Amino acid sequence: MKPADYHDLLAEVLIPAEELQARIAELAVEIDRDYRDRDLLLICILRGGVMFLTDLMRRLTVPHAIDFMALASYGAGARTSSGQVRITLDLVTSIADRDVLIIEDIIDSGHTMASVMDFLRTRQPRSLEVCTLLDKAERREVHVPIRYRGFVIPNRFVFGYGLDLDEYYRNLPFVGVVRSGPD
Ligand code: IMP
Ligand code: MG
Repeated sequence: MKPADYHDLLAEVLIPAEELQARIAELAVEIDRDYRDRDLLLICILRGGVMFLTDLMRRLTVPHAIDFMALASYGAGARTSSGQVRITLDLVTSIADRDVLIIEDIIDSGHTMASVMDFLRTRQPRSLEVCTLLDKAERREVHVPIRYRGFVIPNRFVFGYGLDLDEYYRNLPFVGVVRSGPD
């Protein structure tokens, strides 16, 4: 079935494109400073992290490599996290002795990121940090050490700028709140 026009699904724009870009530029300045003399490898969590990764990369001046990982959570609906995560696409790069920075779209309960960090630590990177665009802080169930954070957002389901609604609308340049209930 043809997906709806996003206007039919959007309750409100939560973070406009200009705000996203301005904040990403600030994060890039911090990362540039912190990784000046390091061997930076950005690991993007597919698919939601893609927009954030590419905009961040364009702002970074520090030399860096990139790689990708994809995950699926066991059980549970598409909009919740079961706490159990499975790797569906693994890295191509060896991370041993590299300075790894994980690039994620959103941290909600924290289960996904906590599992990813446990998994990556077994490969002995020199350092391992997390950079998330969005942080639904009030939903956290397990602690995640977030080194770089774009925005703390309220507990509402969001889409756009990498985040999908049933795989569509990742291309929107802003983060929007999903309209709830029948319209
Ligand atoms: P966690 O394991 O509960 O932290 O869930 C993190 C994952 O849930 C993210 O990587 C997203 O894929 C998904 N997620 C959580 N909240 C949202 C949302 O508001 N919109 C879209 N995806 C979300
Ligand atoms: Mg995700």
